[in-house]
Amino acid sequence: MEKISWQSPSNIAIIKYWGKYGNQLPRNPSVSFTLKHAVTKTTMIATPLDKTSGTPQVKFFLAGVENPAFADRVTKFFGGIREFFPFIESYHYEIHSENSFPHSSGIASSASGMSALALCLCELAMRIQGQTEAIGTSSFIERASFISRLGSGSACRSLYPKLASWGETDAIIGASDTEATPCEDWLHPLFNGFHDDILIVSKKEKSVSSTVGHGLMDQNIYAESRYNQAKSRMSVLMDAFRTGDIQTFGEIAESEALTLHALMMCSTPSFILMKPNTLKIIEEIRNFRADTKLPLFFTLDAGPNIHMLYPDQIAKEVADFRESQLKDLCQDGFMLLDEMGEGPIRL
Ligand code: PMV
Repeated sequence: MEKISWQSPSNIAIIKYWGKYGNQLPRNPSVSFTLKHAVTKTTMIATPLDKTSGTPQVKFFLAGVENPAFADRVTKFFGGIREFFPFIESYHYEIHSENSFPHSSGIASSASGMSALALCLCELAMRIQGQTEAIGTSSFIERASFISRLGSGSACRSLYPKLASWGETDAIIGASDTEATPCEDWLHPLFNGFHDDILIVSKKEKSVSSTVGHGLMDQNIYAESRYNQAKSRMSVLMDAFRTGDIQTFGEIAESEALTLHALMMCSTPSFILMKPNTLKIIEEIRNFRADTKLPLFFTLDAGPNIHMLYPDQIAKEVADFRESQLKDLCQDGFMLLDEMGEGPIRL
């Protein structure tokens, strides 16, 4: 029996991955901040199957409560990666997962959850091969990024500290469609400790799953222009990271968020995932920026919650503004104050 535990973070995309093909390959490159506090801790207990114990079984517990729907998702994921891990069907799995953020907080857990699970699997593979010294090396992390991508595309970026890209782009040498590339070295010191305050407008689960959302892009008449836009933005944004051009960073971040939502609004069927308070907060942020000239920006995931992005230098001013103007627009005043983090930790 093997017991393996990893902690892995969520990430927030600045250039969004929206549209895929083949075996979880992205239609355009994306880049994200790795978060620090929004993490999943996963423990995997793998018990070798003997000839008499039948087909492999997955049991999944979320915060101590058995969750058959997640077990089904993991079983499907394991089925899809058999070719990379031939041992996978020779074990039973008991998986215990816990998120640092409340389960029904509207914060997506697939990036942190899938990356933590992929790390456990990669460690199991190393233990089986007797190569425990390879655990945590850069090729191990690369492998975990590749495997997490097959579970949830955006998860592959969570494996690296601070900033990671995914998808082929001329902007980053060696960038690939099959796994993420670490980009921490691109960051100008102005981006050190960059903040992401997650303002929870609604704790409800997303009304459209990302699988459905990606699928809608196949029929979206703006799809090709969108993919080209993301491709050309990659070099502009990476340059902004390198030179500390927070203005350009912010313009791209906000436009990417609104583009993602616009694509959903003009898909068939159409989805409006913003709520009235999402728009109110966007307006407040833009007013604050106009009044103070401080670099406070927002992005959105495929849901109603706002991610408020800003450099550490203005944390005090933003805290006052957040508490006085924004807190009341959040459901039960709930906000998760996050920042750039260092990536996964073996527990
Ligand atoms: O990894 P998925 O399939 O859940 O897709 C995530 C898509 C976005 O979060 C909207 C954008 C991104 O790049 O993370």
